[in-house]
Amino acid sequence: MEEDLLDDFDSFTRERHYQNRSEALRDLIRSRIIEKEWKADKNVMGVISLVYDHHHRGLQEKVTELQHHFHHQIVSTTHVHMDHDNCLEVIIVHGKAGEVRRLADSLIALRGVRNGNLAMSSTGKDLH
Ligand code: NI
Repeated sequence: MEEDLLDDFDSFTRERHYQNRSEALRDLIRSRIIEKEWKADKNVMGVISLVYDHHHRGLQEKVTELQHHFHHQIVSTTHVHMDHDNCLEVIIVHGKAGEVRRLADSLIALRGVRNGNLAMSSTGKDLH
């Protein structure tokens, strides 16, 4: 490996608090495998997070309605009332990657959602 690239990799390893290069490399490989699982529409696990103002007209109803529509993909939902206006909803999801992504995209695109994120993870079955 080129020295510059190896230096970058060593900084990455240090910054992320890996014990050594091997651990860092293993995780990088696993994240590429997870990317592949999602692209191939495999069974996956994920976490959707949403920040929104519950006063926004009709939004709370839409968030609930979508979750009922995709109830097979939802493992659990946690709602946190962060302050007078803002809610955080964290939804653990599973199923075919395409369906899970469709749910995440539909929620995140709702008007009034201030921040949304889909953390793409894995069932772990094909990870070593
Ligand atoms: Ni709330």
